[in-house]
Amino acid sequence: MIKKAIVWGLLLTLTLTFAISRAPAVRNALAGANITYLPFVSLAANYDVLIDDEAFTPHVLAVRTGTAVTWKNGDNVAYTLVGENAAFTSPELPPGALFSWPADTAGIYPYTAMSNPPPEGTPPLEGALIVSENGAADWFDGRTVTAAYQDSCGGCHGSERQGGIGPALVPGRLTENDAFYFDAIKNGRPGTIMPGWGNLGLSDAEIWLLVGLIRSEPTGAGVTWGLDEIAASHTVLIDEGTLPITATHSGNLDNLMLVTEREAQSIAVIDGDTHTLLGHIGASYRAHGYAFDPTTDRWVYNIGRDGWLFKIDLYTLQAVTKVRAGLDSRGLAISDDGNYLIAGNYAPHTAVILDAHTLQPLKVVATEGYNPEGQWVQSRVAITSDVAPTLVGPYFIIALKEAGQVWRIDYSQPDFPITKLENVGHILHDGFLSPDNGRFYLASQEDDWIAVIDVANWTLVTQIQTGDTPHPGSGAVWEANGTAYGATVHAGEGLVTIWNLADNQIAAQIPTSGPGLFIRTHEQNPYIWADTMFGQPPNQIYAIDKETFTVTHVITDGLMTLHPELTEDGQFVYISDWQGEVVRVYDAHTFTLITEVGGVTTPTGIFNTVRRYETLGH
Ligand code: HEC
Repeated sequence: MIKKAIVWGLLLTLTLTFAISRAPAVRNALAGANITYLPFVSLAANYDVLIDDEAFTPHVLAVRTGTAVTWKNGDNVAYTLVGENAAFTSPELPPGALFSWPADTAGIYPYTAMSNPPPEGTPPLEGALIVSENGAADWFDGRTVTAAYQDSCGGCHGSERQGGIGPALVPGRLTENDAFYFDAIKNGRPGTIMPGWGNLGLSDAEIWLLVGLIRSEPTGAGVTWGLDEIAASHTVLIDEGTLPITATHSGNLDNLMLVTEREAQSIAVIDGDTHTLLGHIGASYRAHGYAFDPTTDRWVYNIGRDGWLFKIDLYTLQAVTKVRAGLDSRGLAISDDGNYLIAGNYAPHTAVILDAHTLQPLKVVATEGYNPEGQWVQSRVAITSDVAPTLVGPYFIIALKEAGQVWRIDYSQPDFPITKLENVGHILHDGFLSPDNGRFYLASQEDDWIAVIDVANWTLVTQIQTGDTPHPGSGAVWEANGTAYGATVHAGEGLVTIWNLADNQIAAQIPTSGPGLFIRTHEQNPYIWADTMFGQPPNQIYAIDKETFTVTHVITDGLMTLHPELTEDGQFVYISDWQGEVVRVYDAHTFTLITEVGGVTTPTGIFNTVRRYETLGH
C-alpha cells in the first residue's frame, strides 16, 4: 500500500507539472486506472513501473519516444524482464533493483517478467509499453481511456465493469493472458454480440490501453457487491399469485431436459418423453448452475456466469424473480427443505445464502483463508453442494478454489455456522457426493487428485491420484456386482478413471480420444457416458460398460459434442452438439440415433429434472 501511495504521489507531482497540456493524464491518475500516459520526462533515479504484489503498476504505460523507462522491483523475489521479440532483456533484478530501457523507437512492446525461482505453474507477469511520438493527444479522440470505456463498453460490461450483458471486466475474473484479451477486444467474439473493435476504428495502442484498464481494479462504489447491492438488484418479473396452478405445456414435468443455450442467454426445454422442444426460458449470460427444488416439480433455479440468479417456473417456462448474487458466479445448490439457496461466486470472493422462495439475500460469506502454503488468500468458490439432512446434513458444502479449503455450512442454525477443512488441495474444482452422502469427492486440479472427504466428521479421508486435471462435473456413481464405484474424466488428458468407493482404490483407467468435461450414468442404464470435448475431433462420446469397464461404443456424430445426460428412465441419452446447434437423442441401450432436436442455439449443459435434485456447478 505504501509503495502504491508513492507511485500515485509521483503521478500527482507529474500531473501538477503537466496539468494544462496533459489533461487526460490527470484524469487517469485520479481515476486510478492502471494506465499512465507518461509525459515528456523520465523519472530518472525514480521509476515509472513498479513490480509489486506480482503485478506491474501501471499494467500499460504510454511514453513518448526518447523516454528512458525505469522499472523497480518492489517485490520480495528476483525478476528478469523480457520484452516481446527480444526488444529488451534485463539482468536478474533482486528485490529493490532498478532497470532502465531507452524507449527510442515508436511501437508497442508487450513484456513479461519471470520470477526466480519461478513458482511452479505460475504464468509470468505481464505488462506493455506504448511508445509513440505524441499518441496520447489522438487516442480516443482526446478522451481518457476511462471515458472511452464508458462510451463504448460500459453499456454491455457495466459502468463499473461489474458486467451486464457482457461479462465483468475486473482483474479477479480475468484469468487469461493479455494476448487473449487484446484479441477479444480487437477481433470480437464470433457468434456473440461482442464486436471487433479493430474494425470499429480503435488502433492497437488504444486496444492495449483498454487491456490495461481492465487489468486495474475499478475504483467506483459499484464493484463492492455485498448484501445491499444484491438486495437492490432484486426484481420481481411476474407476480407468482397470477400463475396458473397447473402446467400450460404438455411435457412430463418429471422428465424435462433443460439445455443451456450458451450464447443465447436462454435455456431450451425439451420433453424427455416425446423429444420435442417445448420452448425457451430467458435467462442470462451462460446459464451455469441449476438447482431443482426437491419439494415440488414447479421450481428450478439457475445462475448465469454474470451472477444473475433466476427463480424459474417449470409450469409456464418463464423466470418469475431474479437477483444478482455476484458479478461472476458458478455454483448453485438448494437445501433439501427447499428453503435456502447458496450461490458460489468467482467475483467478488464470496458465497451468498438466499431465501429460495423470495430470492432475498440472507448472508454474504467472504471466502478467504490460508492456502496449504500458509498464505492468506481470497478465493473463488468453485462448487456448492447440499447434503440431505436425512442422511448426514443439513449442510451446504462449498469449495474454495485458491485457498484449498472446503467449508461445511449448517443451514438449519441461525447465522449459518461454518466448519472449515483446510489443506484439501490446490485449485479445487468440482465434485459430487456418494449415494449415502457420507463422502464428498472433490477434484483438486493442480494436484491431479480427487480428495475424499468424510462429510459427517468433516475430515480428509484420502486423496486419490487420478490423471491430469480431473473434471468430474456432477460425476458418475453406480453399483456393479455389489460394489459402488465413482468416475471422473480429465480436462488434461483423454482418460476415464474409475475408483472403488469402499476402499478408494483405482479400479480402472480407460484411455479415450481426448480430454473431456462431463461424465454421467443412470441406475437403469448399463453404461457410463463420457465426453471428449477437448479432443481432436471433439465429437467422441464414450459408452463404457459399468461392470467390465470396457468401451462398448463410441458415438461420433456432430461437430463438437458434450454433456451426455440420460432421461428419467435411463432409456435415452441426450447429447449437445455445441457447434452443430442441435441436441441428438440416442437409444441408450442400442446407440441408435432416435432424433435430432433443432431450434437450439449453442447447446451445452443438459439437465434432467428428476435426476438433478442438485447440480454441482463449477
Ligand atoms: C454489445 C455489447 C458489447 C459491447 C458494446 C462490448 N462488449 Fe465486450 N463482450 C460482450 C459479450 C457478450 C462478451 C462475451 C462474449 C463471449 O461469450 O465470449 C464480451 C466479451 C469481452 C471480453 C472477453 C472477456 C472474457 O472473459 O472472455 C473482453 C475483454 C471485452 N468484451 C472487452 C470489451 C471492451 C473493451 C469493449 C469496449 C471497447 C467491449 N467489450 C464492448 C459484449 C459487448
